[in-house]
Amino acid sequence: MRQHTVIQHTLFDEHDFLNIRFPKPQYLGAKYIHCDWIAQWIPDDVKVVLDAFSGSQSVAFMCKRLGKSVLSNDFMKFNSEIGKALIENTHEILENEDLNILFSPNSDPSYYNLMENIFTDLFFIREETAFLDAFRSNVRFLENDYKKSLALAIMNRAMSRKVTMGHFGHTQALAYAANPERVKRNRSLIRPLKTIFMELKDDYNEAVFDNGENCTSYNQNILDLLPTLPKVDLVYFDPPYCDSHADYQSFYHLPETYTNYWKDKEFINGTKRYSPKKVSGFDTKKEIINSFKTMFSLSDNIPYWIISYNDRSYPDIDTLVDMAAQYRQVHIERKPYHYGRGGKGSVAGSSEVLIICTPLN
Ligand SMILES: C[S@@+](CC[C@H](N)C(=O)[O-])C[C@H]1O[C@@H](n2cnc3c(N)ncnc32)[C@H](O)[C@@H]1O
Repeated sequence: MRQHTVIQHTLFDEHDFLNIRFPKPQYLGAKYIHCDWIAQWIPDDVKVVLDAFSGSQSVAFMCKRLGKSVLSNDFMKFNSEIGKALIENTHEILENEDLNILFSPNSDPSYYNLMENIFTDLFFIREETAFLDAFRSNVRFLENDYKKSLALAIMNRAMSRKVTMGHFGHTQALAYAANPERVKRNRSLIRPLKTIFMELKDDYNEAVFDNGENCTSYNQNILDLLPTLPKVDLVYFDPPYCDSHADYQSFYHLPETYTNYWKDKEFINGTKRYSPKKVSGFDTKKEIINSFKTMFSLSDNIPYWIISYNDRSYPDIDTLVDMAAQYRQVHIERKPYHYGRGGKGSVAGSSEVLIICTPLN
């Protein structure tokens, strides 16, 4: 492996939008707490950044704050809606008249009944699933797509507040809501979704801004998207870490179902996850090596790559670095976890890794 010194740039210059805060996510593997560290490795002259696996959009948002033209992508629609709301959107916010629309009675109960039918008494009580259906039925009456994306992004976040761990891979939400000890630690377990939504709304509205550059949120498999993109200067890859919490569709099936409002899927297993799943290519050992090979080959026209990784994933770091080194000079940075917080799953004793790839001389 070739080692290479990368010149770190100074964080935050006069183009930064420092006063704009990203609404704090709760998402497995979110890089919210690592954003400053990652930002140091983005060269100043980079103009267009692709966040290829954008999840909660925390890194895309950091790049928007740095004044970059940001292309953000996640193959799950509910994540790409956060991207439409906070990355692509320059000025649309939710105002009082929008809230009146959203909180109106169900506009078509014969169609908008999915949450009540599938998820009542599993994650939420009937009153809440009926409220979710009514809200969802009214999203379509908002004036434009950015308001619709904001409404969905905020409600999906509100739902995650009501489940311990913020994901839907377990079915303990209602049991926890009945446990006073749990409620003492997280009062949202028993608070109405509407109250939580109203509390989050201002944070999201305040995070909408125009950085003066074109920003776009995509919702594609990254292997399909890469060949279609215009010029990109730097790509940030934060793929699922195979072998540890890689199955995002099982953890976040509920916001994905709510966003797509599928009527043509089966809802299976204890959690009522939708089936069939979309193909990721990055969540099984069988596929992942080939997916990385294809992704690196399709990224050869992008000068800089930054890859987030972890030393407990498959393939191991050396294998991944060898693959990247066929195309780029590679430099590795490590940030140890001391408190078992931050990365995918339980990370105590491991380190968060950045693989920084620059053009071959
Ligand atoms: C580790 S998370 C990204 C976390 C993100 N950096 C953040 O800060 O929130 C990996 C993401 O990859 C997405 N994903 C999985 N397979 C994908 C594919 N083939 N194309 C695009 N996105 C994919 C998942 O939905 C998940 O959101």
